[in-house]
Amino acid sequence: MGIRKAVLPVAGFGTRVLPASKAIPKELLPVVDQPVLQYVVDEARAAGIEHFVFVTGRGKSAIEDYFDEAFELEHALGQKASKADILKDVQRTKLPPGAASFTRQQAPLGLGHAVWCAKDIIGDEPFAVLLPDVILRAKPSALAQMVEAYDKVGGNIVAVDPVPEENVSSYGVIAPKSRDGRLIEMSGMVEKPPREEAPSNLKITGRYILQPEIFGLLEDQGKGAGGEIQLTDAMVRLMESQSFHAFEFEGEEFDCGSKAGYFEACVAHALEHPETAGAARDLLQKYTKK
Ligand code: G1P
Repeated sequence: MGIRKAVLPVAGFGTRVLPASKAIPKELLPVVDQPVLQYVVDEARAAGIEHFVFVTGRGKSAIEDYFDEAFELEHALGQKASKADILKDVQRTKLPPGAASFTRQQAPLGLGHAVWCAKDIIGDEPFAVLLPDVILRAKPSALAQMVEAYDKVGGNIVAVDPVPEENVSSYGVIAPKSRDGRLIEMSGMVEKPPREEAPSNLKITGRYILQPEIFGLLEDQGKGAGGEIQLTDAMVRLMESQSFHAFEFEGEEFDCGSKAGYFEACVAHALEHPETAGAARDLLQKYTKK
């Protein structure tokens, strides 16, 4: 069965970008002229995703409004011919009727628990998980590259990319066995290992294709790194009975959950956007000369 549904865990507090994320969900912070979350949804739609399951939490209801009709706004923009382009940009953000579900994670118990919250909406089919902190700039989209790989090998796939060794303890890390192009056979995975115990410098990047059997494992998954229910720990158990590959996608990554990563995403996208590219280049020169 193809990959039609995606889970986007959006319940996190956004601790690393406070106080900006105090009253605005961090997923809605803008990168040039669209929220981080829009880039991630676009990536998923380009991979054929038809249904989005947002695992939200208290204080995140602006996300539902963002993907809905904005009746007054659209009506007002529609009255003015000069605003036709802006109206188009606004209307593009609406997800088709029935294409979004929202469920709440009541307590921050970990990524594994957040994904588990989507189990009834996903049902018995393979699905994608996209962590919306991370913008992946790639062509075809990073998830589309993974879906293409999935069509060949099936099973479960996690996106990975290399990080400097001093950063491995902040991530899930894989133990690679052998490689066939961008697909990597693994012998294991570990969540947030101490640097000296990390099996490689290939970190799990926040894009997953998973089989529905993961839900049964998440159901009784104990706490792991950081005292949280970790998706990685349940994936390690799923590896015992199912095929699992890592996939090194081709493209660039921006971790918008950190201040520096968010800034880099803004700069990189401003340098490409037709309305800001020229100004961004000039401004970078101006401020780097100082
Ligand atoms: C989560 C995952 C981790 C992954 C990371 C990618 O960690 O648990 O395996 O490497 O996302 O951003 P978190 O950033 O939620 O601590």
